[in-house]
Amino acid sequence: MSKIAKLSGLVKYRRHILGMVNQKNYEKSQEAVLEKYGMDKLPSVKPADVFALYPPSSDTFKITTDFSYGISPENDYYFLCRFANALKAKRYFEIGTWLGLSARNVSDNLDDSSEIYSLDIPFDHPDIAIFKIPQHIFGYYARDKKNVHFLKSDSMKFDPTKYRKSCELVFIDGNHSQEYVENDTRIALDLTKDNNSVIAWHDYYLLGELNKNVLCGILNALPKENHKHIYHLQQSNMAIYSPQFYFKPAEEKKWDIPDRAFTINMKYEI
Ligand SMILES: C[S@@+](CC[C@H](N)C(=O)[O-])C[C@H]1O[C@@H](n2cnc3c(N)ncnc32)[C@H](O)[C@@H]1O
Repeated sequence: MSKIAKLSGLVKYRRHILGMVNQKNYEKSQEAVLEKYGMDKLPSVKPADVFALYPPSSDTFKITTDFSYGISPENDYYFLCRFANALKAKRYFEIGTWLGLSARNVSDNLDDSSEIYSLDIPFDHPDIAIFKIPQHIFGYYARDKKNVHFLKSDSMKFDPTKYRKSCELVFIDGNHSQEYVENDTRIALDLTKDNNSVIAWHDYYLLGELNKNVLCGILNALPKENHKHIYHLQQSNMAIYSPQFYFKPAEEKKWDIPDRAFTINMKYEI
């Protein structure tokens, strides 16, 4: 083996070990966060219990999706639209545009006088280069919607002053690291209009697993006395919060059939 090959093998090995050590330290620090708040997961709530809080205005929503990489599943879009509708949202704010599907779905299910704001990183942001994300996909499905406004900033540098205390619903679905979820949650708290407003976080569940980055980010950002108002919305991947949420936690059984299922009428528009 040449000297160069040996050296590069050693560097890779060192990186691998350092990676494992960092990962272990990271896991330890997350365990410390959960221990501090005496929580290992959020209590969960049945959608029927949540939506019983709101007068039934609609339970049927038109959802557009193309099932491609990085988008949210239809059940999450459905619940997002249901919140927007129940809250009669005049201002919806989301962090994380991607193809514009969450913005498009919320826009399609609110009247045209509502304003939809969707924040994503600018095209010269280093993460665009890392992930080689093509520009043309950002906001694609919401481009023709007049009430969707695209905002460009790293959420860590975003100045929320113009939107402060004005949004009935905030959806957090940007960078999913703990640090960013914490930052984005603080922004969301600043944006919410009043005690009826709702914050929803995507990927609290990710591929069927609890996502501790999201959980720890939320717990660190929300004042401890408000932790009792955060839930995992069953049959979704989302965590939800509103100061008016105070539900009896739903029982969680691994192989249980939920009380209700979704009806989906699908159309493939060619
Ligand atoms: C999962 S996608 C959003 C999906 C979209 N909400 C939907 O359901 O249709 C995550 C998005 O967050 C954006 N993002 C990543 N880091 C960000 C940051 N620091 N600030 C703002 N947006 C960010 C990514 O560029 C990506 O478009």
